[in-house]
Amino acid sequence: MTLPGHPFLTARDDGLWLEGLPLLELARRFGTPLYAYSRNAMRAAAASYQRALAGRPHLLCYAMKANSSLAVLQTFAEAGCGFDIVSGGELQRVLAAGAPASRIVFSGVGKTHDEMRQALDAGVRCFNVESEPELAALSEVASSLGRRAPMSLRVNPDVDAGTHPYISTGLKANKFGVAHERALSVYRQARELPGIEVVGIDCHIGSQITSASPYLDALDRLLDLVDALAADGIDLRHIDLGGGLGITYTDEEPPSAEDLVRQMLARIDERGHGHREILLEPGRSLVGNAGVLLASVLYLKPGEEKNFCIVDAAMNDLVRPAMYQAWMRIEPCVRRTTQARTWDVVGPVCESGDWLGHDRKLAVEPGDVLAVLSAGAYGMTMASNYNTRPRAAEVMVDGDAVHLIRERESVAQLFAGEKLIAG
Ligand code: LLP
Repeated sequence: MTLPGHPFLTARDDGLWLEGLPLLELARRFGTPLYAYSRNAMRAAAASYQRALAGRPHLLCYAMKANSSLAVLQTFAEAGCGFDIVSGGELQRVLAAGAPASRIVFSGVGKTHDEMRQALDAGVRCFNVESEPELAALSEVASSLGRRAPMSLRVNPDVDAGTHPYISTGLKANKFGVAHERALSVYRQARELPGIEVVGIDCHIGSQITSASPYLDALDRLLDLVDALAADGIDLRHIDLGGGLGITYTDEEPPSAEDLVRQMLARIDERGHGHREILLEPGRSLVGNAGVLLASVLYLKPGEEKNFCIVDAAMNDLVRPAMYQAWMRIEPCVRRTTQARTWDVVGPVCESGDWLGHDRKLAVEPGDVLAVLSAGAYGMTMASNYNTRPRAAEVMVDGDAVHLIRERESVAQLFAGEKLIAG
């Protein structure tokens, strides 16, 4: 039986399997904490977008901030995806994974001159510019290299994506993009700048969005601008609608990627823009439900008010619960028939905020392995070394094969670049 929202995770008599391998075996073989991903879940997620986009000019740019491990990037590069990057570091990483620069779009509110130079040298497809001073800087940097930077303006459409305030980005109160009312005048400036080639328009209204309507509202606002720009002689090649589609963590029922994209394309066609290239920048919906974080139960600590199940993964491995009060499903890798109790699943880090799940009904014993589901997105990429904890290992399951894609970090690596003071 597959779990809702997790087509590559099956509950069998002997426990949970990821594609053709039992999670328990992965934990035993590679140790915990361990991130385990399904390669076919990633491929299927990309295919869901690509099916809807087929037959028209498009580029599906994986927002690599969600999970930037090289083998993950490689998987999407092989699936024909482009990439959305937000730093020079991400640029180097994705090039190292073998992605062509011509499929990279560069987003972010604070690109440094140096990052702009690196991206121009590499030959990225487009800079998603977020402010007027950034536009001026980009023109200057490109001109100094004798180049023109392909540019799209990130427009803030001022729509409410109805998601967590930390991951909502399309409202006026957010730091992102240029206000809709200012966009026309910024494009007019851009047209006059020597180091800029205007190529597109983009927006990104937030993350973990579970309905199509905010997208359609944002799209309408964007198309109004595309029309106004065309009337002004600025004809855009592409429209980039950002990422943000949600996944099922608990009982959310987001539209499928295919369904969402079809609705957006229908609106684009209706309004006469079907010839323009469509870019999308999904992150979470491509990798979130492809991954689990495996943790071993160290100690059980029943108490008067709370029962604590202390595991070997912590907020440094997976910060989403601590940071966003995110609810992530926790399942034992092998089900016990003993009586379940209610536990707070917590890590060893010295903070009360170090928890993975509150009030979870689980039948567990020390030594058992638990799986935190939907951990493929914003898990490993947000991991830290707090408490001098080395970061987890990562494995990629592909059918009944498994590949170690990142070795467990060693403590020696953690302070290798540090120096004692001489004298
Ligand atoms: N494009 C841009 C410009 C973005 O800022 C983001 C995400 C994406 C695309 C991809 O969005 P997605 O499809 O993954 O929703 N750490 C948070 C999520 C932060 C999202 C930031 N921007 C979390 O763990 O929920």
